[in-house]
Amino acid sequence: MIWQLTSYWRSLITPLFFCLLLQPPQTQLATTTKPNIVLLMADDLGIGDIGCYGNDTIRTPNIDHLAKEGVKLTQHIAAAPLCTPSRAAFLTGRYPLRSGMDAINNYRVIFWNGGSGGLPPNETTFAKILQQQGYSTGLIGKWHQGVNCESCNDHCHHPLNHGFDYFYGMPFTLISDCLTTEPPEMDREFRSKLWLCTQMIGLVTLTSALARLTGLISVSWKTVTCLAGFSLLFFTSWFSSYGFIRYWNCIMMRNHEVTEQPMVTERTTSLILRESISFIERNKHKSFLLFLSFLHAHTPLLTTEKFLGKSSHGLYGDNIEEMDWMVGQVLDAIEREGLKNITLVYFASDHGGWLERQEGKRQLGGWNGIYRGGKAMAGWEGGIRVPGIFRWPGVLPADTVIDEPTSLMDIYPTVVHLAGGVVPQDRVIDGRDLMPLLQGTVQHSEHEFLFHYCGVHLHAVRWHQKESGAIWKAHYVTPVFRPPGAGACYDRGFCPCFGEGVTHHDPPLLFDLSRDPSEAKPLTGNTEPLFDIVIKKIGRAIEEHRRTLTPVPEQLSFYNIMWKPWLQPCCGTFPFCWCDKEGDNKLADL
Ligand SMILES: *[C@@H]1O[C@H](CO)[C@@H](O)[C@H](O)[C@H]1NC(C)=O
Ligand SMILES: *[C@@H]1O[C@H](CO)[C@@H](O)[C@H](O)[C@H]1NC(C)=O
Ligand SMILES: *[C@@H]1O[C@H](CO)[C@@H](O)[C@H](O)[C@H]1NC(C)=O
Repeated sequence: MIWQLTSYWRSLITPLFFCLLLQPPQTQLATTTKPNIVLLMADDLGIGDIGCYGNDTIRTPNIDHLAKEGVKLTQHIAAAPLCTPSRAAFLTGRYPLRSGMDAINNYRVIFWNGGSGGLPPNETTFAKILQQQGYSTGLIGKWHQGVNCESCNDHCHHPLNHGFDYFYGMPFTLISDCLTTEPPEMDREFRSKLWLCTQMIGLVTLTSALARLTGLISVSWKTVTCLAGFSLLFFTSWFSSYGFIRYWNCIMMRNHEVTEQPMVTERTTSLILRESISFIERNKHKSFLLFLSFLHAHTPLLTTEKFLGKSSHGLYGDNIEEMDWMVGQVLDAIEREGLKNITLVYFASDHGGWLERQEGKRQLGGWNGIYRGGKAMAGWEGGIRVPGIFRWPGVLPADTVIDEPTSLMDIYPTVVHLAGGVVPQDRVIDGRDLMPLLQGTVQHSEHEFLFHYCGVHLHAVRWHQKESGAIWKAHYVTPVFRPPGAGACYDRGFCPCFGEGVTHHDPPLLFDLSRDPSEAKPLTGNTEPLFDIVIKKIGRAIEEHRRTLTPVPEQLSFYNIMWKPWLQPCCGTFPFCWCDKEGDNKLADL
């Protein structure tokens, strides 16, 4: 009864209030105050996996609702088709090769927590600028931008050294080795290398011991002992590598501390969700940035009991539906705390779905809808076109779709400006402020050209010809699909960027995505009167773009990606790294 009365009065008073003010106050107010920023990023999620992007069998009601209340981008492009470089670009607003975070060789991501490559300390993330602007900044979930440079706890690449006040999650990425029940992804190769080293050093040790005993060559006992020590180290590493990768890479950290080594996968999802909600609650009275970087929907698809077998697309579908539920929980927390109208929420994936990831006939990677190609392929749309949703009630229009080309790198200047900061002036920033486009005050995105890199190799370029609306895309290099025509590199697991596994095109393959979004039929001089003009225009743009590039240290060089025992984060005494500090932490009933 009381409820009915108050809601009755409210329904009378609210319009009155708005009339008195003549214009809705919300817009004015919200653009002048600093909004909270909540960035939700899925891992390996395809654009075709989400309801509001056309999937009618995977249920993603919460993400769909987010789009209904905000702006949905249909041409949102990742700067790279793999985690490490794409996320480096996202965090810095720059093409990954500007920070040395894209590869010259075949090692295109960070492979170990104990490697020395990572996001260089002199790169300025948006988190760092927001922190300087007084924001409370948190990263929950996946990092995959490196940990250490020179010692096992210098944490030079760690989130806390890159502008985050709080970190809870995996410094690495989810891999199959994290689950004891899954066939390992990395173990086998690593183990055979260790075994080879063990044998070689063992042989050298034996030979030198014999030489010493027989007096053939003068070798000191010290050298022999030292060699024997190394043999023992390699032998124990090899021996314990049965399940060891889990201890090296599948770890959880809270700030600078390793909390689980190896991570207890049964509780990871609820801990990540609980940490995210708790971060929002803790910081509700100030401006905050929360970057929730999901471990979903990367294999091995960690999924809790509640969602297993619930979707119509097997484990992959279950995993996405669980992630959508988590999105809903976070949005509920924002609403519950009364922050909905002062919070900009963003949802995206770091790149396209992984086509080659199958088990028998079952697809374990994502689905990229009508787009050709997938993860690891830089040129084909499926590798780089991802969902992109923004919501900020009262400031951004609701239920709006924008087809203009935008980049994940645009988040950088967008959130920096919203926080009242300025982007660094001493370097090239490739992202563009999205607010005018999202608010509808301009019709076109600022991006005329976008460059699609595979490692440091330029594979394709997109030109948005604003006057005509054409989205030209020229492919200079494309991967060789195997088996031919299969649409992916099933024989390798990933498509390569250079060498035998690619085809060079001269003249380039040209498509107009506005007419042929699936890149099905390349245009030629005969079928497209503008062919030569377009190719020439794009060629000049490449020259201009190349002039802005400067050589920087390679973060993914062979040396940098190699596992180094002395850089291994470890919560015991190396090599006995084991701990479970969440043990007493009762699982929340989320
Ligand atoms: C929805 O996603 C699933 C799993 O990725 C995929 O198999 C299916 O084809 C998608 N449906 C549509 C209509 O895109
Ligand atoms: C939030 O913004 C919406 C859209 O402008 C408005 O209808 C609603 O009343 C606002 N809510 C609050 C609590 O200010
Ligand atoms: C960071 O340091 C490297 C190596 O000294 C340098 O090449 C690069 O230009 C620097 N980057 C920035 C953004 O200052």
